[in-house]
Amino acid sequence: MTAIDLPHLSTGKVRDIYDAGDDRLLMVTSDRLSAFDVVMAEPIPDKGRVLTAMSAFWFERFAHLVQGHLISTDLADLADLGIAADDAELAGRVMLCRKAEMLPVECIVRGYLTGSAWKEYRTSGTMHGAPLPEGLLESSQLPEPVFTPSTKAEVGDHDINISFGEAADLIGTDLAERVRDVSLRIYAEGAAWAAERGILIADTKFELGLVDGELILCDEVLTPDSSRFWPADHWQPGATPPSFDKQPVRDYLDGLDWDKTPPPPPLGDEVVVATRARYVEAYERITGRSFTDWPGVA
Ligand SMILES: Nc1ncnc2c1ncn2[C@@H]1O[C@H](COP(=O)(O)OP(=O)(O)O)[C@@H](O)[C@H]1O
Ligand SMILES: [Mg+2]
Repeated sequence: MTAIDLPHLSTGKVRDIYDAGDDRLLMVTSDRLSAFDVVMAEPIPDKGRVLTAMSAFWFERFAHLVQGHLISTDLADLADLGIAADDAELAGRVMLCRKAEMLPVECIVRGYLTGSAWKEYRTSGTMHGAPLPEGLLESSQLPEPVFTPSTKAEVGDHDINISFGEAADLIGTDLAERVRDVSLRIYAEGAAWAAERGILIADTKFELGLVDGELILCDEVLTPDSSRFWPADHWQPGATPPSFDKQPVRDYLDGLDWDKTPPPPPLGDEVVVATRARYVEAYERITGRSFTDWPGVA
């Protein structure tokens, strides 16, 4: 990847983040893929571009609900940062953003009963401590979407569920209510939009922050990495549908005798190609745009 001559702030599982000055961040989204919390050795070509393009699409669509942190995804706007406008590797995978004071709360919205929420319901009939109707099945649609905040664990990688009251203790009741309301609205609109295009968004995580006291939608938005995407035509309550994007990888890994700890097994070309195609399909279905029109896509 092109060397970037800016102060490097962090490298996450998927993104590299740089200080772009003037209270801005440059986020570069790689093609790294993680499955079962392990980052695979082989990148999925263009995955970072899909995540960037999809987030950009949603930031624009949700602008009437909340301001997004995104300033530009266009390399032409990065000339003052010493980045060439024709950098083929960076094209399509950069987000110049407003730097926010991130809220210490992860804004999770669940529309379907799956993952850890299904486990909790199965043992106690509750989700996030609150009772749900009886008789729901694995992957049932919830009577209505629910805001189930969590907070990042100090140690380790797993988030800790918190109640709405605990979220209010952390950020204040007024802000917690605004965060909940905006999260539910974005989810409702985005999930309805995607469902009309054959993709169910079972649940998702938003990250919000403050810029000059104003609430701003940050990070990535309603992507397959921040959400569970399911193919609508494979959804059948009683079982977990295949993941729209990671199914080729999951199928391959499930067929191996791998204990889900690093190092990951090598992904063959077929798995890589099939996974790339799924990401591209998710983008094209949701946006109605052709992925080949996105910068940097060959
Ligand atoms: N506008 C923003 N201002 C400050 N921090 C942000 C902003 N948007 C996202 N972030 C942070 O940047 C990081 C995104 O990098 P990522 O590789 O996705 O990390 P992670 O592995 O924690 O998901 C997260 O820690 C997120 O909270
Ligand atoms: Mg992230």
